[in-house]
Order: sequence, then C-alpha cells, then structure tokens
Amino acid sequence: MRRATITGLGTAVGREVVTNHDLARTLDTSDEWIVERTGIHERRVGGTCLELGAEAARLALEQAETEAADLDLIICSTCTPDQVFPAVSNRIQDELGANCGAFDLNAACSGFTYGITIGQAQIAAGMERVLVVGVDTLSRFTDWQDRTTAILFGDGAGAVVLAPPSRPDRGLLSTYMGSEGRYADLLACDFGGYIRMDGKEVFRQAVRVMVSASLKVLADAGLDAPDVAAVVPHQANIRIIESAMKRLGIPLERAATVLQSTGNTSSASIPLAMDAAVSNGGIRDGDAVLLVGFGAGMSVAAALLRWGK
Ligand code: UT7
Repeated sequence: MRRATITGLGTAVGREVVTNHDLARTLDTSDEWIVERTGIHERRVGGTCLELGAEAARLALEQAETEAADLDLIICSTCTPDQVFPAVSNRIQDELGANCGAFDLNAACSGFTYGITIGQAQIAAGMERVLVVGVDTLSRFTDWQDRTTAILFGDGAGAVVLAPPSRPDRGLLSTYMGSEGRYADLLACDFGGYIRMDGKEVFRQAVRVMVSASLKVLADAGLDAPDVAAVVPHQANIRIIESAMKRLGIPLERAATVLQSTGNTSSASIPLAMDAAVSNGGIRDGDAVLLVGFGAGMSVAAALLRWGK
C-alpha cells in the first residue's frame, strides 16, 4: 500500500490566556487543585473554528511547501463547528483558495487521528496531498460556572499536510479507529447546552482504551512499546497520560505534552503536542511516533508513524 507521511505541520491557539488563578476568582477552585489533578496551568480561549483552523492550515501548507490549489482533499475534524452547516472545511477551503473536496468529521477528541487515518487511505488510493485540520472551540460550550469542567478546556487548531514520503521507510505504519457507544453518555453536549461529563469514569475508560489502541497499532506494525521514541497522546489530563504510559511500559519522558499551557483542546490537542515535541527535539527524523486519542463517544484512535518526509 502506498504510504502517507506528514510533510507540514501548523498550529494556532485562542488569543486570550485564562490562568487557573483567573478561574479561582469566580469558581470554588484553586491553582493547586487544578495543577495537581490535571496538570493544567492555563488555557487559551477565543476565535472561531474557521479562524483557528485556517491559521493552522496556512502554516502547515507553508512548511510542506504546498500551494492550497494543489490540495486534493480537506478533512476537518471538529465537534464544535461554527455552524450546524456548512462544514468548517468548506469555509477553510474558500479561505485558503483551494479547489478540492472538503468535509468535516466528528469523532470528538479522537478526530484528528481519525482524520489522519482517512487521509492516509486517500493517498493510498491515489491522491497526492491531503490537508487534515483538527480544530475545536470548546470554550463556547463550557459552563464557566461549573468547576468540574471549566478548568479543563481551551480553544485551538492543528493541521498537517499528508503526502507520499520521498523515503519509502517514512510515514504511517499502522492505524486504528475504535468506538464504544455504550459509554456515549459519559461525556456529552446537547444542542444549546454545555459539556457534561462523568470525569472519574471517563478517566478510567480513557486509560484502558488508550492502552489497547496503542498495543493494536504496535502489533500491526511489528513494533514493541520500547521501540517508540515519542508518544503524542490526547491532552486531557496529565494523570491519564502518566497511567497510560506506565501501563504501556514507555518512560513518561517520551510523552509529548502541551496541556500545561493549552488545556484540553479536543481535536487540536494531538497536533499541538506534536508541534511542541518537534520544536523541542522530542520528535526527530526516523523516530517511531505513536499518536493516541480518546474522547466522547467513547471514541478512540491510534496511529503509528516513522517520522520524516
Ligand atoms: O477529552 C476527554 C475529556 N475529559 C476527560 O478526560 C476527563 C477525565 N477526568 C478527569 O480529568 C478528572 O476526573 C477530573 C479532573 C475531571 C476530576 O479529577 P478527580 O481527581 O477525578 O476528582 P473528583 O471528580 O473525584 O473530585 C474530587 C473532589 C470532589 O469533592 P469531594 O466530593 O471529595 O468533596 C469534587 O467535588 O474534588 C472536587 N472538585 C474540585 N475541587 C476544586 C471537583 N472539581 C474541582 C475543582 N476545584 N475544579
């Protein structure tokens, strides 16, 4: 099967910084509690999915040295679109000046990894350049009076350009998409409502599905957990990441994290963490990199890739 690899990566976050101290002014909470239970210090808020998604997409195209007009497909993962319809991806397409198919997908916080998986399949089928955007503006669906959820979420976007690698050993090695609909009520948001969540149960199930999805993609690629140089997990809670890494037997230092300054940005969290890891040397050419996301649904997705163009 023809492989796909990431040739460009771009990100964007909301402009306003909301610290734990800011939240503690209006909520019965504290910086200490939030840091200890989640690892989050601050989150970024503001912007629409179109604004954040287009900003990240432009940067990804620039890094990939790809013109928007040369894209074959735009996939936008979001569970917080600006409108019921049209899709955010249609507006991003217009904003970029692209001339290709475009659609949104909703697999909540697993959506970016779902997007990569679908994008890869299109490259295998003959497309040359697919843009995958993960963007969410959860702050618009957060009850800022609810201390159990308001401390967690932020707004952001990440985008990648997928294309066939120039070195055949680079690119996506294996992918997995899962859904456990029996857990759909653990984390939900109704039309006109706010995010509601059974945090403890989401936590428990999240660790389990992250580990099982990771083991699946490792087995499919014929790799063992210690072969993984960097894990890019969904950025929901540092304790979830710690538990999953421990169960996988991968040292915590290999986990890319950005939640300390972004909070949980849903579809954007994996590309944001990936970008941070590339910048700080946590991901290098030739590394085996494991992406693993989970979220409402309960959805789960993992992808294993050999980093590089
Ligand atoms: O993309 C997926 C999105 N969601 C997740 O991944 C959520 C996963 N779950 C979590 O991250 C954690 O469960 C939370 C951070 C949401 C909560 O942490 P926890 O360690 O599970 O705390 P808890 O819900 O068991 O609450 C412990 C105590 C409770 O008080 P009592 O009953 O012991 O008196 C809560 O009322 O902490 C209280 N509490 C707070 N206290 C201060 C809950 N939220 C807060 C708060 N500040 N913000």
